[in-house]
Amino acid sequence: MKNLNMNFIPYGKQLIKQDDIDAVIQTLKSDYLTTGPKVKEFEDALSTYCGAKYTIAVSNGTAALHLASLVLLSKDDRVLTTPNSFLATANSILYVGAKPIFVDIAKDGNIDLELCEKELQKDSTIKAIYTVAFSGNMIDQQKLKYLKDTYKITILEDYAHAIGAKDGAIKAASCTNSDISILSFHPVKHMTTGEGGAITTNSKEIYEKLLILRGHGMVKTPQMKPWEYEMRELGFNYRITDIQCALGVSQLKKLPDFIERRFEIAKRYDKAFQNTIVKPLYTFDGKSSYHLYVVQVDFSKLPISKVDLFQALREKNIGIQLHYMPINKQPYYKSLGYGGEHTPNMDKYYEQCFSLPMYPLLSDEEQEYVIKILFEELM
Ligand SMILES: Cc1ncc(COP(=O)(O)O)c(C=O)c1O
Repeated sequence: MKNLNMNFIPYGKQLIKQDDIDAVIQTLKSDYLTTGPKVKEFEDALSTYCGAKYTIAVSNGTAALHLASLVLLSKDDRVLTTPNSFLATANSILYVGAKPIFVDIAKDGNIDLELCEKELQKDSTIKAIYTVAFSGNMIDQQKLKYLKDTYKITILEDYAHAIGAKDGAIKAASCTNSDISILSFHPVKHMTTGEGGAITTNSKEIYEKLLILRGHGMVKTPQMKPWEYEMRELGFNYRITDIQCALGVSQLKKLPDFIERRFEIAKRYDKAFQNTIVKPLYTFDGKSSYHLYVVQVDFSKLPISKVDLFQALREKNIGIQLHYMPINKQPYYKSLGYGGEHTPNMDKYYEQCFSLPMYPLLSDEEQEYVIKILFEELM
């Protein structure tokens, strides 16, 4: 293969074009930089795209999780969640004084809903399940519906990785079988607003509570004097700007194309790894919108360790990454008594898995280079 003399190839990256830049500049020249019309336009566009009744855009995905947890949980509530996520998912449970219970993952990297059911059977005080559509792969909606209907529990779906994913006719963040879904628009995700996030729900009551909490807990009514506002609870400033939302509206229009390109990349990886020592976490079946392309390799049978592989690829300008270190084994969580959970699938996952470059801008040539170098280093 020719020397591509290429720049560093990260595991994920945004795709910003001139129309995105123009949209941002137009908003910068407008009267509203925040709390203006672009926020509502972005929220309405997200509601339409995801198929949920209400959307609230916020400053980032973590803020979305925090507000969602304030609405869904109370102090000391027990919540089933996954160790295989970014810290923010479980942290949001702690923010409100509730207690995460870490459940092992299934083979596809998502929380094992069968194990969740066992927990629900053992402990009728469990309040909620926080799922994460890990790497872009939809949560099994049939099972989720069954758990919701049977055990009457609250469900939050974290779709920070999975806007655009589908399970049959059910779209990610449509909240068909959940109370709330959240999204993130960090630059490594499918579409970006720089920093940004959103909450979707089909409940008017939840929507109205979230609106108040996003803005300092403040309420204004037509009955009040023109200058008056009332603070009815302790809220936050988790607003997103119109500048970010202008970018979001522009990016959302291109999301189907971005996802299509991710599909192409996933299929090419699938083909390259067929019957090899590199095992995709799952192969293309239309359910994942592929935020990440995760592979597993049994390093115990190879001359190279995982650390050395990371190092060797980085030296060749390829930024593979690990998603994720188990949250329950983080020092802070250990200080709270976590870390000893029986999670054999997560343990094996952590030993064997890593994420390969996956983003629309990744060229065919760059992908071929990644595949070639990966095999060279593993052999
Ligand atoms: C699964 C998951 N949930 C939540 C978040 C938090 O989103 P943000 O970075 O926008 O705060 C992330 C971010 O990486 C994530 O991967």
